[in-house]
Amino acid sequence: MTHRLTVIGTGYLGATHAACMADLGFEVLGLDVDERRIERLAAGDLPFYEPGLETVLKRNLENGRLRFTTSYEEVAEFGDVHFVCVGTPQKAGEYAADLTYVDEAVGTLAPLLHRSCLVVGKSTVPVGTAARLAERINRLAPADGDAVLAWNPEFLREGFAVQDTMRPDRIVVGVPGDGGAADRAEKILREVYAPMLAAGTPFIVADYPTSELVKVSANAFLATKISFINAMAEVCEAAGADVTKLSEALSHDDRIGGRFLGPGLGFGGGCLPKDIRAFMARAGELGADQALTFLREVDEINIRRRIRMVDLARLLLGGSFIGRTVGVLGAAFKPESDDVRDSPALDVAATIRGQGGKVTVYDPKAMGNARRAQPTLDFGESALDAARDAHVVLLLTEWAEFRDMDPHALAEVVAERNIVDGRNALDPDRWRAAGWNYRALGRPHPGLR
Ligand code: UDX
Repeated sequence: MTHRLTVIGTGYLGATHAACMADLGFEVLGLDVDERRIERLAAGDLPFYEPGLETVLKRNLENGRLRFTTSYEEVAEFGDVHFVCVGTPQKAGEYAADLTYVDEAVGTLAPLLHRSCLVVGKSTVPVGTAARLAERINRLAPADGDAVLAWNPEFLREGFAVQDTMRPDRIVVGVPGDGGAADRAEKILREVYAPMLAAGTPFIVADYPTSELVKVSANAFLATKISFINAMAEVCEAAGADVTKLSEALSHDDRIGGRFLGPGLGFGGGCLPKDIRAFMARAGELGADQALTFLREVDEINIRRRIRMVDLARLLLGGSFIGRTVGVLGAAFKPESDDVRDSPALDVAATIRGQGGKVTVYDPKAMGNARRAQPTLDFGESALDAARDAHVVLLLTEWAEFRDMDPHALAEVVAERNIVDGRNALDPDRWRAAGWNYRALGRPHPGLR
């Protein structure tokens, strides 16, 4: 049976899901309430940077399998399966997730569902949301309809979104308690993801709350791993040890593994920081807050890295940023992304600016977003441009073009050869040999504690 799919919400997750599902051969209709975004997507113009995605988008617009709309009526009429991919940002001034967009999407769609269909939540939500939405769909759906809700969390990483969607590590499906509805939801999703299942991808069927928790606990684990190694970096700094060697040695233990054990400026982005905070808030509502108090520590260790970075830069400048020039390499929260949401790099740049430094930032892809987020910073056209006349250069996002920089070429343009490697991305020996005062987070400095 071929299903017609719709994707509601066309951010990083929804746009990728829509384009990739069309690439699998489905007819897909993407919806967003943002008309400008829909116009751009329909013209094959991806509104954000994601390697490889624009090609998939264009290919499926051309072959006619992928279309976009702003009309919920059209979506309800068209789709057999509706994927809800809208954002769940952190509430202003609170830890909890803001569910306005999810509630709006489901609330608008449900009364229009006059036929048999599956609604599939993919957004990251606090545990208990799926059960609440299922009830809401039942209440709002017209008598001639037959809509079932499933929960299918998404684990894609920005920068690898196409690859992670086409070849996921696992597919998790949360189904309702009612056996008939559960079987129908599972059957349809097995059909939708058939190519992935044929390739051996594990398919895990669970109840709603378990499926919701898989997503947030995965992110909590990843954040914990990063903060663990960054806590070790703090100890290394105090003890004169090298956290990069420590991390390498730990990684050879299969039980630990090397991924997400990269010490540096810590995690940012639209997911890990807000997801662990929303998780703590939800656990509190459920009376299980004690179980997650360690996540507060994970968050604090993460924020302390940013403070340490600013302190180290200030120290190198003799104790003040006033009248000093700082070159910042990187604004995105990680390489291969133009996303600056909760970006450690931009946070450090803005803090130094706030403390009186003249800060010039360069990022290969995130300049537009960085300018909009931090208009008081200066922006350079290239790494060399950002570093011109700098008293200290800070590497804050480990783009390949920064890793490969020639220390001699950079030395030509700066006022003083001070560099702080916030991502442990450079070879200290190479930079020191070129006359640089190289400093890094969690690594010893010759002759200095
Ligand atoms: C994350 C999850 O990985 C993904 O499964 C989920 O669906 C969404 O959240 P993403 O936000 O795209 O994905 O970024 P990720 O690659 O996880 O990196 C998060 C942050 O951690 C980045 O700021 C990165 O620089 C930092 N990081 C990552 C480290 O500081 N050290 C590491 O070793 C790895």
